[in-house]
Amino acid sequence: MSSAVIICERGMFAVERIPIHLDFDTGIDDALALICALLCQDQIDILSISAVAGNVPLEHTARNTQNILAALGERIPVVRGAEKPLARPLHCAVSHGKTGLGDVKLPQAQQAYAESTVEDAIYVSACKAEGELIYLGVGPQTNLALALKKYPQLNRKVKRVVLMGGALVGGNMTQASEFNAYVDPEALQLVFRSGIPITMVGLDVTLQTKLPQWVAEALQELSNPYAKLAAQIIDFALRRSREYGFDAANVHDALAFCAVVFPQVLETHPYYVEVETQGELTRGMTVADFRGVCSEKAPNADCAVKVDIDNFWNWFVSLFRREEARLPKA
Ligand code: BDR
Ligand code: CA
Repeated sequence: MSSAVIICERGMFAVERIPIHLDFDTGIDDALALICALLCQDQIDILSISAVAGNVPLEHTARNTQNILAALGERIPVVRGAEKPLARPLHCAVSHGKTGLGDVKLPQAQQAYAESTVEDAIYVSACKAEGELIYLGVGPQTNLALALKKYPQLNRKVKRVVLMGGALVGGNMTQASEFNAYVDPEALQLVFRSGIPITMVGLDVTLQTKLPQWVAEALQELSNPYAKLAAQIIDFALRRSREYGFDAANVHDALAFCAVVFPQVLETHPYYVEVETQGELTRGMTVADFRGVCSEKAPNADCAVKVDIDNFWNWFVSLFRREEARLPKA
């Protein structure tokens, strides 16, 4: 594991960083999660980043991820993952705009994509991390499912999957299912059955992180490139939610990332969860055993049940303010 040096009033410390693979279908809230991840590199060691088709087709999710990295001066090459779900045609979202970032335009990154396949990239990172890898997946779980199919022993090499997907109650695609789970239920099922410990940051909890106006304003006051980009994305998210008549804009994926570096923000409960792949009304539904009726099944996921909303938003804004404090004073 690699470490970072922290200097504070108590002295200088070396802290272990969390080795992580990041998987996005970059979209609006994925983009915010990625920016947060880049701002937390004193806590995480980003071993690899992949893109998957979901909110928009892969050509856009990969490009968006690459462009955000380039705009913020990062040279991590993006691994292009799955173009479609394991067993179904791709179903994209509408609310992220045609290219996934609404009307936010970024210069085209010059860097080439990683040459590796996504299966190999995930496996290599897991081996490198020696049992400590955290896999953050905030889109359909197709990439991890492909890696598990190719490398069945991967389930013993990944420490934990933290995912945005599913819900203990309700959905946003159908009355029963959340978008990421609906798009590739077979992949999500494979992940839930893999034996890797899971933190499920589900829709019923991410919906509570309604983007407050003070957060938009706090970011607009800052001049570092991370805050400027996030402010533009948030501005689109707020306009879009008004246009669509939503009651709020949500940052589902940023909350899932927060669960990696600041897990205290969530209260979780262990449940045995299965994913519905067959149901006519319930495709992609994450079905939790609330009453322990499957007594022979051990819980396979720590499911978010509650979020400390104020602490979450304070954490979010603090990342950008901390970056601002690093800017040279004029
Ligand atoms: C999830 O679906 C996507 O549109 C978002 O990026 C998030 O990952 C919320 O249901
Ligand atoms: Ca997403």
